[in-house]
Amino acid sequence: MDLFEYQARDMFEAHGVPVLAGATATTPEAARAAAEEIGPKSGGVTVVKAQVKTGGRGKAGGVKVARSADEAQQHAEAILGMDIKGHTVGTVMIAQGAQIAEEYYFSVLLDRANRTYLAMCSKEGGMEIEQLAVERPEALARIAVDPNTGIDEAKAQEIVSAAGFDDETGAKIVPVLQKLWEVYRDEDATLVEVNPLVKTEAGDIVALDGKVTLDENAGFRHPDHEALEDKAAADPLEAAAKEKDLNYVKLDGSVGIIGNGAGLVMSTLDVVAYAGEEFPGQPKPANFLDIGGGASAEVMSNGLHIILGDEQVKSVFVNVFGGITACDAVANGIVGALNNLGDEATKPLVVRLDGNNVEEGRRILAEANHPLVTIEETMDGAARRAAELASAATPSPTN
Ligand SMILES: Nc1ncnc2c1ncn2[C@@H]1O[C@H](COP(=O)(O)OP(=O)(O)OP(=O)(O)O)[C@@H](O)[C@H]1O
Ligand SMILES: [Mg+2]
Repeated sequence: MDLFEYQARDMFEAHGVPVLAGATATTPEAARAAAEEIGPKSGGVTVVKAQVKTGGRGKAGGVKVARSADEAQQHAEAILGMDIKGHTVGTVMIAQGAQIAEEYYFSVLLDRANRTYLAMCSKEGGMEIEQLAVERPEALARIAVDPNTGIDEAKAQEIVSAAGFDDETGAKIVPVLQKLWEVYRDEDATLVEVNPLVKTEAGDIVALDGKVTLDENAGFRHPDHEALEDKAAADPLEAAAKEKDLNYVKLDGSVGIIGNGAGLVMSTLDVVAYAGEEFPGQPKPANFLDIGGGASAEVMSNGLHIILGDEQVKSVFVNVFGGITACDAVANGIVGALNNLGDEATKPLVVRLDGNNVEEGRRILAEANHPLVTIEETMDGAARRAAELASAATPSPTN
């Protein structure tokens, strides 16, 4: 989960990383009030900053210096509602203005390829950092960070030396990097990036912008992280699925997919996409949904409920391989789910069962004889059938 800049700022502050005062606003009037409060800390100067989860805000006109509360209000008026790379600005942060002497870059992230953490640091931070990384990679120091020792004083020193800082500036940056490491470690982040990390005219080191990505798999250790979620931006179906603890990802096609086991579901997506190419409109998978082991009637009906709630879905492919959970239990789950759903179940279901106790599973489905259910013996056959049904149910522009 990516955080907004203001959330990163607050998190930095909580861990003792030097930041400037900042407050959010969703209306120009509130921006004015925030500027009246914060401006006096910095000679009346504030910076109005678009809060969107994408880079390049400054270049897009989403970061503007205001010399008065009036001006802050005008900037907020212009920035709120602005579109930055497909993200609409709904919130601005009014930040205390900094007297910047120099802009640096620092980040620590998960280096998957090398199975370690990686710190990156440069004396030449600011809005051109992507260009710098491409054109003069030597100006961006890259130092591996051992997860066991992290960025301690010695490691921070190594980083600032590699980036080429003079001793005096380096000595000021070292404790800030240690604090930023604490954010990374203690919050279970996969990215902490500060661009720019600035030296002010007064010689202080301050984090002026922050990007933080949190590892959602560690969410159970951080009950407070839930409040950081941007609920308004979440896909409503994904949000409903999350509520039910389902592993669901919304996709763009018309064939709903339910399977047990992430690997099986992934291959089901491929097989459906491939089969769909044969039919008009070329139906594609509408979602990823892994109901895991123990596909109880409840989990099955929660899953079906989510999938049938997707207007784009025209048919559903249930692809289950009975392992520890035998096929008869799965079949009972499907029948139970359809009973639970009653009139809500309106779209055709293609079911392919295989594995442990498959005969009994198929018998249960055959006996229930539900009008919406088709049983197929093979995964390919079922994928083709589901794609065909979705294609037939989708009005084509030519007829
Ligand atoms: N509080 C501040 N005081 C003075 N100048 C600021 C302040 N915040 C940002 N700036 C200036 O604006 C520039 C852009 O700001 P910032 O880094 O927050 O946005 P950005 O880099 O455009 O956004 P992103 O990092 O999302 O691409 C900074 O490099 C800095 O020069
Ligand atoms: Mg920036």
